[in-house]
Amino acid sequence: MSGIVSAIAYVRLSAPDLDRQEKFLLDFGLIKVLRTQDRLYMRGISESPFIHVTERGPAGIVAVGYDVNPAISIEDLQERFNARVEPIDEPGGGKRLALTDPNGLTVELVQGREQVEALPRHARIRGTDGISKEHGPARVERLVHTAYQTTRLQETIDWYQSNFGFLPTDELYIGNPENTLGRFVRADMGEEPVHHHILFVVRGEKDGLHHASFEVERVDDIFTGGDYLHARDYDHVRGIGRHALGSQIFDYWMSPFDVMHEHWSSTEQMTASSRFNQVQIGPGMVHDSGERPPERFVKQASPIIQRQELTT
Ligand SMILES: [Fe+2]
Repeated sequence: MSGIVSAIAYVRLSAPDLDRQEKFLLDFGLIKVLRTQDRLYMRGISESPFIHVTERGPAGIVAVGYDVNPAISIEDLQERFNARVEPIDEPGGGKRLALTDPNGLTVELVQGREQVEALPRHARIRGTDGISKEHGPARVERLVHTAYQTTRLQETIDWYQSNFGFLPTDELYIGNPENTLGRFVRADMGEEPVHHHILFVVRGEKDGLHHASFEVERVDDIFTGGDYLHARDYDHVRGIGRHALGSQIFDYWMSPFDVMHEHWSSTEQMTASSRFNQVQIGPGMVHDSGERPPERFVKQASPIIQRQELTT
């Protein structure tokens, strides 16, 4: 039996200035779907109707959406979560069931969103008038994970694993294995391969979003897309580097509203039977290639915003 969540669908952020947010997101490599007075919807090149929403309000994160496993009916989850299914009045439509995680973050389970046509990918063969040197923003394909700082590490891990069937992939500890620093969890789709993690939860002094991560079409996009952002003086936080756990190539950028966005590419995937590893970290133990992370990367936590704080 697989888990009830098959994939991450979207992040719902809030920002006081949608013009600035739109400019950053376009330069980061997302594609505009719809802009209303108080909302901005962006997609990637994959079939999802949107993967990133910004609502007008104080800067932070409002919610995260997850796709319900197609083998399960969202209506059948109402009793289990003591919540009602509602229609979604947003691009792609569909239905939604809203929950709240132990940190007060809204989690939206969604099903039945209408998919859109995928956009063309990079040409692999140079045509008669092609050139090797490409410019422009990264081509973002899809949202792949979020990471949270939390003051309730074990409670948060237990909540996501028990409610959604997320499986532990790798765990980091300091000193002894009981002293957990953070855990990577992945979706349970049986023998269907999934990414190394759909969520990373790390012990921190605050509760909030550490970052949202976007898979780019190919690893080259991390370099060309990074050049494009550097040329426009965006706030670069960390990268380009490689996480040893999950073989992920990364580059982290801060939005104008202090929400960290990651360009990401990985070649490693797992199934439900892949092994869980506990990994010791600490001074002198290096697990990532590239430079040491700056302090503001380690401490990053964008605030969790409640719907009543929004102006939409
Ligand atoms: Fe990440």
